[in-house]
Amino acid sequence: MKLLNTLFLSVSVAILDTLYEGRHFQRFWVLEEIARAPYFAFISVLHLRESLGLRGQVHIDLMKEHFAQTLNETEHLEEMERREGNKYWIDRFFARHLVLFYYWVNVIYYLVDPINAYDLSEKIEWHAADTYSKYLEIDPQDEKISAIMQDEIHHAQELSQAIRLIT
Ligand SMILES: [Fe+2]
Ligand SMILES: [Fe+2]
Repeated sequence: MKLLNTLFLSVSVAILDTLYEGRHFQRFWVLEEIARAPYFAFISVLHLRESLGLRGQVHIDLMKEHFAQTLNETEHLEEMERREGNKYWIDRFFARHLVLFYYWVNVIYYLVDPINAYDLSEKIEWHAADTYSKYLEIDPQDEKISAIMQDEIHHAQELSQAIRLIT
């Protein structure tokens, strides 16, 4: 599954690279719109598991963590909106349909294989950090983007920790 995750990421990145060449903030906005979906999906599944009686400290810790991550991703999304990343209808149309699909993919994936669902999101977070670091080569003074890049690194590390927690 890890190989499939890598393949899925590579194909998605190639598509985004083509669609968003030279349009940094539109690209970042789409990424941030999608970035929240896995965390919402993880929380949904954890709630369901709790309702079925599988309550425990690990569940509670993961829910707290994923909730904090959704809020943090929302802050990133709002920053991209301040930079007009959602200015065009076509970008909003693309991202909002993609996010619907991606949410449900993550719900099913996390329900049946949480370790690999985390692995996919960890890879995506590392990709997001890499995307922001490439932008910082163009504009090294952009402190906000630098802080967002650090957040993405933090998310990737938290997901790696989450894998260890449930293994
Ligand atoms: Fe983000
Ligand atoms: Fe993130």
